[in-house]
Amino acid sequence: MKINAIELFAGVGGFRIGLNHIKDFDKETGLAEEHGDWNFVWANQWEPSTKTQPAFDCYITRFGKENHINMDINKVNKKEIPDHTLLVGGFPCQDYSVARSLSNEMGIKGKKGVLWWDIVDVIFEKRPPFILLENVDRLLKSPASQRGRDFAVMLRTLDDLGYIVQWRMINAGEYGMPQRRRRVFIFATLKDTIYSKKIISINDKEEYLKSDGFFNDIFPIETENIIVKKKSLEEFVDAVDVSENYQGGKFLTTGLFINNIIINFNINEKSNEKTATLGEVIKDAEKFSNIDLENYLIEGEELEKWEYLKGAKRIKRTSKSGHSYVFSEGNMSFPDPLDLPSRTMLTSEGSLNRSTHIVFDKKLNKNRKITEVEAELLQMFPPNWTNTGMTKRQRYFMMGNALVTGVVSRIEHKLKSIIKQKNNQ
Ligand SMILES: C[S@@+](CC[C@H](N)C(=O)[O-])C[C@H]1O[C@@H](n2cnc3c(N)ncnc32)[C@H](O)[C@@H]1O
Repeated sequence: MKINAIELFAGVGGFRIGLNHIKDFDKETGLAEEHGDWNFVWANQWEPSTKTQPAFDCYITRFGKENHINMDINKVNKKEIPDHTLLVGGFPCQDYSVARSLSNEMGIKGKKGVLWWDIVDVIFEKRPPFILLENVDRLLKSPASQRGRDFAVMLRTLDDLGYIVQWRMINAGEYGMPQRRRRVFIFATLKDTIYSKKIISINDKEEYLKSDGFFNDIFPIETENIIVKKKSLEEFVDAVDVSENYQGGKFLTTGLFINNIIINFNINEKSNEKTATLGEVIKDAEKFSNIDLENYLIEGEELEKWEYLKGAKRIKRTSKSGHSYVFSEGNMSFPDPLDLPSRTMLTSEGSLNRSTHIVFDKKLNKNRKITEVEAELLQMFPPNWTNTGMTKRQRYFMMGNALVTGVVSRIEHKLKSIIKQKNNQ
């Protein structure tokens, strides 16, 4: 039996690729070879900063037009979204502060354009029993002026909506995947599912979190010498109170949140898996792209520019207010080491930017940028997934925005077994 799911902030479909273990697409129709157990009944993607919508165009090329909506999520009538068992989405870390308002049903007012509040509206209307979200790891400590406030607001809102929450910072590169990318994954489950009830009834929740916890079971960690920290959001009247008065500091890299009690600790990964490397990705990509690598080469004066960008520097600068300071940054490996997972890919990949990957191509005996297909393989996307009429720049951008689909694929097996337990759907 298939399980109904929706994908918010769908981008080019990373969650869906991961959940349905998609490895390829039909070369004639362009449609993904999607044989997994997840039936995507709805998806939404809209890029506010551009008129063209290359991510959405890619999404519908791969998954068809039906039930896929290219509209600002804020304008979507959430009541019209089909019922679903699982909601997934990767969304930006923004300012989640809230004010009191009498005008909407939740009685709170988030800042306009802050996408978390649209997720909340969907949850409020549709009450999916299971939610899987992804965000940058900075979310656990933002904002700098009130450490941890945004995540505390998020947790409290989910509790008010009737969910328990587990989270974990996962670095894909530590678990046999080809990119070091630290992201927070958040798993929220309605309190009246069998799964949640079982967790609520466990006496030793610390022990549960260490070894059986949703994520720590799938992505093993060291279980010795853990310093567990507990805190509570009970003293706050509501999310507005949390937003205004939370002073509990940042959240640690894994945690469990039940009935306003937070149990969390910092993890150390423990993995026996073989490291996947940037060098392997480059080798794999040879099979899939017959492009002219001359266009990616870095030589002569250009090479000097890159050497400067990647090098250590101390530069005297003057701020807008006239205050002078020294800007400094350290040395980066140049070219990127081929025997390790790659560094995190950003949306600026491929542009003249310090974080762009530069590799030494042994065959050409020259330095070069990575190709679009190599960027896709670092995110564990099918090769040429974004070759849907986008510019080169846009293809790199899409990958910088996406996630390592292998993380989701690994979560999928457990998620499915939990959901398929009787009465959990
Ligand atoms: C972090 S990316 C998610 C990428 C996705 N997980 C993937 O694999 O490609 C967030 C996405 O949200 C989209 N987005 C931003 N604002 C939006 C809005 N108001 N409504 C709908 N989508 C929005 C962006 O265009 C971007 O594709």
